[in-house]
Amino acid sequence: MKTAEIREAFLSYFESQQHTRVASSSLVPHDDPTLLFTNAGMNQFKETFLGLEVRDYTRATSSQRCVRAGGKHNDLENVGYTARHHTFFEMLGNFSFGDYFKREAIQFAWTFLTEVLGLPKARLWITVHISDDEAAAIWIDEIGIDPNRLSRLDEDNFWQMGDTGPCGPSSEIFYDHGADVPGGPPGSEDDDLDRYIEIWNLVFMQFNRDADGTLHPLPAPSVDTGMGLERIAAVLQGVHSNYEIDLFQALIAATAARLGVTDLEHKSLRVIADHLRSCCFLVADGVLPGNEGRGYVLRRIIRRAIRHGSKLGADGPFFSALVPELVAQMGDAYPELRDSESRIASALANEEDQFARTLDNGLSILDGELAALSGTVIPGELVFRLYDTYGFPVDLTNDIARERGFTLDLDGYEAAMDEQRKRSQEGGSFKVDYSNTVALEGETEFTGYDSGVSEATVMALLKDGDAVSTLEEGDDGIVVLNRTPFYGESGGQVGDTGFLSANDVKAEVRDTTKAQGHHLHHVKILSGTLATDASVRAEIDVSVRQQIRLNHSATHLLHAALRQVLGEHVTQKGSLVDSQRLRFDFSNEKPVSKTELSTISDIVNEQIRGNTPVTTENMSMDAAMDAGAMALFGEKYGDSVRVLTMGNDRFSVELCGGTHVERTGDIGVLKIVAESGVAAGVRRIEAVTGARALAAFAAGESQLDAVCEALKTRADTVVDKVTALRSEARDLEKEVARLKQKLASASGGDLTADAVDVGGIKVLAATIDGADVATLRETLDQCKNKLGDAVVLLAAVEGEKISLVAGVSKALTKQVKAGDLMREFAGRLGGKGGGRPDMAQGGGSDVAALPAVLADLPNWVQSQL
Ligand code: ALA
Repeated sequence: MKTAEIREAFLSYFESQQHTRVASSSLVPHDDPTLLFTNAGMNQFKETFLGLEVRDYTRATSSQRCVRAGGKHNDLENVGYTARHHTFFEMLGNFSFGDYFKREAIQFAWTFLTEVLGLPKARLWITVHISDDEAAAIWIDEIGIDPNRLSRLDEDNFWQMGDTGPCGPSSEIFYDHGADVPGGPPGSEDDDLDRYIEIWNLVFMQFNRDADGTLHPLPAPSVDTGMGLERIAAVLQGVHSNYEIDLFQALIAATAARLGVTDLEHKSLRVIADHLRSCCFLVADGVLPGNEGRGYVLRRIIRRAIRHGSKLGADGPFFSALVPELVAQMGDAYPELRDSESRIASALANEEDQFARTLDNGLSILDGELAALSGTVIPGELVFRLYDTYGFPVDLTNDIARERGFTLDLDGYEAAMDEQRKRSQEGGSFKVDYSNTVALEGETEFTGYDSGVSEATVMALLKDGDAVSTLEEGDDGIVVLNRTPFYGESGGQVGDTGFLSANDVKAEVRDTTKAQGHHLHHVKILSGTLATDASVRAEIDVSVRQQIRLNHSATHLLHAALRQVLGEHVTQKGSLVDSQRLRFDFSNEKPVSKTELSTISDIVNEQIRGNTPVTTENMSMDAAMDAGAMALFGEKYGDSVRVLTMGNDRFSVELCGGTHVERTGDIGVLKIVAESGVAAGVRRIEAVTGARALAAFAAGESQLDAVCEALKTRADTVVDKVTALRSEARDLEKEVARLKQKLASASGGDLTADAVDVGGIKVLAATIDGADVATLRETLDQCKNKLGDAVVLLAAVEGEKISLVAGVSKALTKQVKAGDLMREFAGRLGGKGGGRPDMAQGGGSDVAALPAVLADLPNWVQSQL
């Protein structure tokens, strides 16, 4: 059976058992920041298991694309070295949400394996959890499994999605690949070898694990199962390694053909085939190579693939060229792959390009260092240098090290990395690390969501990074208060500005940042002396804050509108919100078209006109996720998060600590002012709101007025007017060209009178004012016609530049050659030229010499005769 047929057989079988077929969800779990990548079929049903989401079915089946590279379930390092580990794989699953439980789950699995797929029963081995008598009894008494082929394990038979979330005891089904493969049955000492391979995991979901590890019973016992499609395909295709199944063989063959490799067993081919799948699907799902979070994992996988390509002798880009083969293999099952084909190829090509430039250098550095190394441990400092200078992710260095029998000093690497982090923090000169100098308990209380002014006490003062007890008039420094309405720069929103004042003290707050729970007010003391423990009135500049609020809320609406118009792959890559404008960077391969931009701004403005209240709620992270809040991957969120909801029908729900408008209508209006690219696959939109948007509209209008005024027309006819003017200008240009030619031919007629006789040949050298090259050539022809046997050299001067043409009548070309003439005369004029015996062209620059040079033509002709 082909892989595609097995996938279909599984889904159809469970459909025939009243399961609803559900499409695979994205590899990027949009609503679950606890998860790096989708790593199991149950991920998309997490809330259903928890009883938080009710679906209109209680049985489901799916084939889920999964990536296990980073996070709790990480297989990256093993890929290529074992027969069954992948960064990307497909998980076939059947699910029961409070419908059936252990008995039916076991029966379904057994029937599918032994009857639908026809696997020999004697090859199947079972494990159940040590505590699970019920499951053991079902297998032995009802299914008839030989108790010798059933073992009871502890941790291996308890499955959980992550550190928190749904979990429960499991029962696993293993396939015995036969005595010629080394390895022992599950639970034995060498069960990690390849003979007995787990093919199906049946999880009896019973608990939700919370952050302190406590298990809470689920609302209803449920079932989650997962069978690796590649593993079951290997069993059915009678091969032992997943890489030998049809799908992988096709990818491996395409890679080998591309690289001219004949050894199809080479491990590097496997690595490339595996990585091709994860990379393509990750890009299809909106991830792009980068230096953080998911983007960094993707970058590591791509670079690992490229490195294995270069091991196989690739001397140029090859990885991106394999995309069509993958689409051919998997595009039918995953149409999203086909739709994104060109986007994927260009993202991979970009990364190949970038990495190619450094790979060779990095490898030769590593080779050199390894040759000189005594011992087998690569120093952390070298691992770090390869990473820092050559973009070698640690696992790539590790990979190379492993091939050559070296190990890495990872502690040393971490230390070098920490050093670097410290250095870069010190480099950002504004950010004073006050934690070194002032130890403060607790946090600054932020009062600025509700009010712009607070009475506060000075907790600490800093000057040039040192703790001080006073700041004097004229000093620049940092003030820490016990409470403050000043927002500290975070989440893309700039810090507040304003004043701190007491009786005779006034300090201007020019910026506010945050460090370890404290707001740092960057001040200049305008008058008086500010001392620790003083009471001050802290007051923000409300008008500036108001502008910031409009822009911040508009950013949320823009984000939601972008996803609606461009697709779910749009994820935030950065943002900046200040009082002037908003700037939003997001993942998208192509520029956003004018039409899309106008749809996006229409959607945002419609939400603004809806004038719905903006609500903020503090809740637990779990509850926020249930509410479908968008969170930024890589951001650290505390236990309690602030969820901001705005727009009709919860148009935008995001985690955000920023300050926002009360109703969407407060934003007034949004105007997009620019769209541009900032990096490969990252676009930027800049926009203005409120009074600034109106000012931008007004500025546009007054420019239009000015244009109308200059053109003496009205706005409604200005386009016609400009079109007419342009066509008039084109006609005039043509007319000028025609007249120039006419002028030249008239002067050509006159010129012939200046020709001199050299041994019976008419010799003419002249300058024609204002002529271009075309005119010169035309005039040349006319002169030759009129003069009979003639040698003619014509010049035109424009600024510093001399254009030259020369012609010799055919009958004379044995003696005098136009090409020679041109080489000689252009040379004398400081330029170059050449051509055929009867016609040549050239140029020069020595304008002053021109008259004398031309005058010498008769002599030169004489010399040729
Ligand atoms: N969720 C279970 C697994 O991933 C089935 O193994």
